[in-house]
Parts: sequence; C-alpha cells; structure tokens
Amino acid sequence: MASYKLPKQVILLLVSLLFFCYGVVELQAAQSPPSNQPYRTAYHFQPRKNWINDPNGPMLFKGIYHLFYQYNPNGVKLRGPPVWGHSTSKDLVNWMPQPLTMEPEMAANINGSWSGSATILPGNKPAILFTGLDPNYEQVQVLAYPKDLNDPYLKEWFLAPKNPVMFPTPQNQINATSYRDPTTAWMLPDGNWRVLIGKSKRRQRGLSLLYRSRDFVHWVKAKHPLYSYERSGMWECPDFFPVYKNGNTMGIDTSVIGPNIKHVLKVSLDVSKHDVYTIGGYDTKKDAYTPDVGFMNDSSLRYDYGKYYASKTFYDGAKKERILLGWANESSSEEDDAKKGWSGIHTIPRTIWLDKSGNQLIQWPISNIEKLRQKSPVFKLYGKLIKGGSLNEVSGITAAQADVEISFKIKDLENVEKFDASWTNPQLLCSQKGGSVKGGLGPFGLMTFQASKGLEEYTAVFFRIFKAYDNKYVVLMCSDQSRSSLNPTNDKTTYGSFVDVNPVREDLSLRVLIDHSVVESFGAKRKECVTARVYPTLAINEKACNLYVFNNGKSDVEITGLTAWSMKKASIA
Ligand SMILES: *[C@@H]1O[C@H](CO)[C@@H](O)[C@H](O)[C@H]1NC(C)=O
Ligand SMILES: *[C@@H]1O[C@H](CO)[C@@H](O)[C@H](O)[C@H]1NC(C)=O
Ligand SMILES: *[C@@H]1O[C@H](CO)[C@@H](O)[C@H](O)[C@H]1NC(C)=O
Ligand SMILES: *[C@@H]1O[C@H](CO)[C@@H](O)[C@H](O)[C@H]1NC(C)=O
Repeated sequence: MASYKLPKQVILLLVSLLFFCYGVVELQAAQSPPSNQPYRTAYHFQPRKNWINDPNGPMLFKGIYHLFYQYNPNGVKLRGPPVWGHSTSKDLVNWMPQPLTMEPEMAANINGSWSGSATILPGNKPAILFTGLDPNYEQVQVLAYPKDLNDPYLKEWFLAPKNPVMFPTPQNQINATSYRDPTTAWMLPDGNWRVLIGKSKRRQRGLSLLYRSRDFVHWVKAKHPLYSYERSGMWECPDFFPVYKNGNTMGIDTSVIGPNIKHVLKVSLDVSKHDVYTIGGYDTKKDAYTPDVGFMNDSSLRYDYGKYYASKTFYDGAKKERILLGWANESSSEEDDAKKGWSGIHTIPRTIWLDKSGNQLIQWPISNIEKLRQKSPVFKLYGKLIKGGSLNEVSGITAAQADVEISFKIKDLENVEKFDASWTNPQLLCSQKGGSVKGGLGPFGLMTFQASKGLEEYTAVFFRIFKAYDNKYVVLMCSDQSRSSLNPTNDKTTYGSFVDVNPVREDLSLRVLIDHSVVESFGAKRKECVTARVYPTLAINEKACNLYVFNNGKSDVEITGLTAWSMKKASIA
C-alpha cells in the first residue's frame, strides 16, 4: 500500500468530523426509537427504547417527582441483570430522563437490581430499599442513598457499605428464590421503622414478612409476618398504606395511624399476574393486619381487571394525594416488540382513596393529565337517545389520542336478560358476550380504534346489564379486544368484571384514555378499571381511526353527557 502524508491540520479536521458525525448518530440512536411507530404512546410513560417493567421508588423530593423502573438497557426482552431507569417530573405527566442507577456495584447486587421502594427519612433524606441478586443469585435486600442531597434530581446513588441489610440465613428459613420487593417503610410512635418483604412458603402460602429497624441499616425480622394467606403463591411487590374512612379522598403519609383510618394491603400475585388488595385494620400493638374480608388470593379485589401488574403507591405531600403507578406489558409478539424497539409502558398515575362504603378503593387519573386535553377539537353531546342496534360517530377528534367521558341513563328495563347464577367468572362472560353479541339491555359503550363502519377492527369498552333471581341488577363492564387487530399474533384476551352500582338509581359512567396502543378505562363512578393493549393494523392514522358510541342491545339508552378531547403529546422521552 502506497503511503503518503496528509497535512496535520487535515487529519485533525477529518478526525474531528468523524467524531462529530459519530456523536450525532449516537445521540439520535439514544434518543429516538425506530421511526414509523404507530403504537408508541403519546402520554403514557415509556422510555425511549428497550424493556421496562415494574415502577420503583416513586417519591416527591424538593418539588420533583421521581420515578425509577426496572429496565434492560440492552434490549426489548427481560434479559440479563436489570438496572433501574430513572426519570423526573414536575407534574407526573411530562418526564425528563436521568442517568441509569442501581447498576451492579457490590456483591449484594452483582447479578441485578430488582424492585424496591423509597422512604423519606427524617431531615428530608431519601433512602431506597430494593432486592439485589448476589453472586449466588440469591435474593437479598439492599439499601441505597443519594450521593448529593442538594441535587433535587438525585442523579447519583450509592449503596450503603453494610449491604445486604436483610438476607436469608439457615436460621430464618427464608427461601432465597422467593424473597423480594421491599415496601416503603413506615415508623410507629415507638421509633422503629417497619418494612414488608414479599415471600412464599411451603404449600404455596403467600406472606408479607415484617422487619423492624431503628436506624434503617440494621433490620430484625419480626417473629410473625404482617399477614399471610394459604395457597396464594408468591407475593410480589407488596404495598401497605393508610386510607381515610368515610369517603375522604385525601391521601395520608405512610406512617400515619389513627381512628379515622383503614389500611390497605396490596400484593402482586406471581401465579395469576394480578394485583389484588384487601382493606382492613392494622393492630399496631401486635404489628398484625386483619382484612375485613378474610382472604387474600386471586378472588380478592383487583386494582385493574385488564393488563396491570407490579403497581406501587406513594404519598404526594404537595397535593395531599396517594398516587398509584402500575406497569402494563405488551400483548404483541417478541418479533413485533423487536421491530418496535421497546416493550412495556406505565399506566397513567391514578389518585387512589377508599370509597364511602368502605368496601373498595376508588381510582381516577391524576388531574394534571387534564392539562393535555386540547381546547379544540372537542366533541360534546348531551341528552341523546341511542337506539338499540345503532352506531353513532364521535367525530372530529384525534381518535387514537383522546380522553373520552361518557355517561348513560337506562330508559327501558323491559328487555333486560336474566342472570344465570353459574356465571361466576366475569372475564369469561365478557369473552362469551363480547361487543358484537346482541343483548337485551346492552352491550352499549364505546368502540375505539375502529377502522370503518364495516367493523373489521375495533376495541369495544361497554356495559351489559342483567337481572338476577332476587330482582337485583347485575352490571358487567368489559373491554373486548377480540377484534382489536387483524394481526393474529397478538394476545387479544377480553377482560371484565362486575361493577357494584345500581343502574336504575345512577347513571353509568365511563372514561377511556386512548393512546395509540392503550385503552385505559374507568367505569361506573371510578369504581372499576380495565387496561388493555391493542395494535390495530387498519385504524392507525388520523383518517382511518374512528370512535363510535354503540348500542347492540334491544333497549334504547340515553347519553346524559359525552365529552371527547383530543390529547396533546406529553414530553416524555
Ligand atoms: C451471578 O454472578 C456471578 C458472579 O459474578 C456469576 O458467576 C454468575 O454467572 C451470575 N449468575 C447468573 C445467573 O447470572
Ligand atoms: C423455594 O422457592 C422456589 C420458587 O418459589 C421453589 O421452586 C422451591 O421449591 C422453594 N424451595 C424450598 C426449599 O422450599
Ligand atoms: C380464596 O379464598 C377463599 C376463602 O378461603 C376461597 O373460597 C377461594 O376459592 C379462594 N380463591 C382462590 C382463587 O384460590
Ligand atoms: C404479559 O403479557 C403476556 C401476554 O399477553 C401475559 O401472558 C403475561 O402474563 C403478562 N405478564 C405480566 C406480568 O403481566
């Protein structure tokens, strides 16, 4: 090869050009997922690319909201040691990415950092407890602190020297493969911190182990778990928090106890992948929790009857609300996830409180999300009769990126079908009686992501009403994905549940947050939530994607109010 010399300045220029171009390309690769993204969400939280699961360590610190999450920085599957992604926000709607954290740093998390929670210690000092995987791949609990308390973005964290702070020993008989996900800690007047760790024991007993500590570093396992229940399998991501009685919607800090308070224990059931909860009493003398309805298994109440897992709450002291965050995974194939370049989203943060009845929790999207509602185009309608068998277009809005509130009044109970006492599984009933199955009173509701009046493709969210033998009405709420996509590789499971509402006395309300591949529904005065993931193939751009109000029952129903907003894009990635 002939050799000749280039002048030094030219070499420098070439090198710097190369570097500059490289830098630009790298930056773009880091910031944007592959182009042509019909399913990427506009206002649901998701990182720029790759795999995301559980929300971790949410908190408000010095006016900044922090969200961490389980993350694989190297791909769209849950592979390799997960680290924590981190984003910050001033409103829980728009998010700014921060550096990854909880990367393998010491033996206690050398094989990865799993889920955990934040606790604000006295003096406004955040601390995080999470599950690390040690060199033997055993689950241990790890303590982390911010490096710089003057940085409200808490960009950098370090692991306490004395880690792990909780771990399996031959004496404590903890199974090191089912021992994870510490909660936010709470302190009682005796000055001791308490924290729960999810666990399972022989014969599939699920437990929330209780540990106590005075200094947050030295933890002692209590003799008895806070609560346990037979044959419920491994309990992941436990969460334990106080709520006010009597319908007071205000949130309460995790350490508060008192006479006007009930406690909620939520666990994520590893077997069914459902987030279930009970409401009950916390006996602080015995450090024991007793649910009002005495079981905690897959028959318990759920936060969400669709795709929803590994949720966690935190107390927002600025708004005096308790906020719930959750994860919704994809329903698409791994091949499609690889094409998209990402997998997993978080649901819209929800304010959560105890219903006046004391029987269930109420959830509603945080009010800040309403700031994304565009002033125009908006679709409004009041007092319109929806004839049995009719389809009514909600026109002029961006139907793939919308917030829709609608309420129905029952006009005619003549055609209501009889409820069969053997119908104990509402999800199954929803899949047998989907949106296209004609009925007496219902199905009526919204058809989202609809391609055309030909109904080739749509996702239906609806009510169906039955009359039981005791003359009581049974209201079923469903999210029917069976025709949501012409792509046969998607999981199109239909979801649903019974709703505790009297349709004769109250209007039936529905709010649906539609966001490209998410249909997040809140039914019957905020009592029932169902999140679905859908991947329409026809109903993807502005022209082809439509929204309709439908009624496939014999009886007419009345729309008492309907407002549909086009939604702005949040600034997320
Ligand atoms: C866990 O870490 C050890 C030590 O770094 C390593 O040898 C082992 O392969 C890891 N285990 C797994 C399952 O990744
Ligand atoms: C420990 O837990 C794992 C997973 O839950 C289970 O497969 C295993 O049998 C348990 N081991 C013992 C000794 O109970
Ligand atoms: C939950 O527990 C109750 C009471 O023991 C029982 O009747 C029910 O069948 C259980 N549900 C499941 C899904 O195991
Ligand atoms: C994720 O999605 C798949 C397929 O839709 C489902 O079977 C699985 O249980 C989901 N996992 C969780 C944790 O929700």
